[in-house]
Amino acid sequence: MIINTHFGEIPQSYLFSEVAERVRRYEAQHPDAAVLRLGIGDVTRPLAPAIIDALHAAVDEQATASSFQGYGPEAGYAFLREAIAAGEYGSIGVDVSADEVFIGDGSKSDSANVQELFSLSAKVAVTDPVYPVYVDSNAMAGRLGTFDGERWTGLTYLPCDDGNGYRPALPAAPVELIYLCSPNNPTGTTMSRTELETWVAYARETGAVILFDVAYRAFITGDEVPRSIYEIPGADEVAIELGSFSKTAGFTGLRCSWTVVPKKLRRDGASLNAMWLRRQSTKFNGTPYIVQRAAEAVYSAAGSAQVQADVDYYLANARLIRSTLEAAGLNAVGGEHSPYVWFRCPGGMDSWAFFDALLERAQIVGTPGVGFGPTGAGHFRLSAFNTAEATQEAAERLARLIPTLV
Ligand code: MLT
Repeated sequence: MIINTHFGEIPQSYLFSEVAERVRRYEAQHPDAAVLRLGIGDVTRPLAPAIIDALHAAVDEQATASSFQGYGPEAGYAFLREAIAAGEYGSIGVDVSADEVFIGDGSKSDSANVQELFSLSAKVAVTDPVYPVYVDSNAMAGRLGTFDGERWTGLTYLPCDDGNGYRPALPAAPVELIYLCSPNNPTGTTMSRTELETWVAYARETGAVILFDVAYRAFITGDEVPRSIYEIPGADEVAIELGSFSKTAGFTGLRCSWTVVPKKLRRDGASLNAMWLRRQSTKFNGTPYIVQRAAEAVYSAAGSAQVQADVDYYLANARLIRSTLEAAGLNAVGGEHSPYVWFRCPGGMDSWAFFDALLERAQIVGTPGVGFGPTGAGHFRLSAFNTAEATQEAAERLARLIPTLV
């Protein structure tokens, strides 16, 4: 056998590819349908003017030998590592140094690749439902046992639903790697300071490492919800944090992200910061210079105000989606500090049946909750990243459709 047989064990297609395929088929059969996309979390606002200006300037630099850039530093340019250390961490009173910040080409890649730092025998826990990349990347590595059609035999699932208020319990049996995401994809719920303290204490006690995904942190409003796990004392000895410009600043196409690997994070005598640098310098040649200059512009006075206006725009969409679902009698969460709204399907429908009803009867695309894990069965996710006009139209269609299904 010369192939990695673990690929044969994972579900045949990636969740969002399966959704896209079903929508393609529907649109081919109904070429006149005005389909509204509230499925994958892909942004619709154009890049902010300050980002466009930075891109233009960086492109022009490439026309002159004295400012042309070839290979960049694998961990990212110092100007962006410093801007993130100050703009994302210094600004909230958290001490992260530039050499703990690694620039990547998107949180999807970094969250899929980070598992390479750990032993194949490391026990993994995920909240359920969960961003499928955490699970599939560990499955491809062969860390999760076998898939029984619903669950991986070697994966610890931490269920989150209205039964436990979307608060994952600590694992019953020991685990070594824990993926947490707040604001959460897909549920849109957030973890409180007290909850994070519990997780950090657990990891400190057991030696587990927390992989904390903050791709949606720009959507947090107010001061209650932590924006970084490093707000919790001692987290820098137990956690890696993954951040992204995709949803914050519309970089889903440009591609730029960061991963913080603290110098204090050591296991089995090894520095994870040194291991990640070694991994990145071997397998990655860096995010393009022009993209890193564009990301830097997010921290300028003009850039941060423009980017915040876009986040507020999506949050208004999210509130409309949630209030529409609630007015139709559904129990929805998320949409407050998050672009995602999560709810039980009306009338006890299963996730894919509701997906089909929504597409066929209201021409709306959403994401079936079961695609995010077994506890997502019977649930559904809608995203707020479409335009205000499309979201308004979707709200009206939802308000008409849902009462016919309950
Ligand atoms: C999602 O819809 O869950 C995200 O857009 C997927 C991603 O960020 O890769």
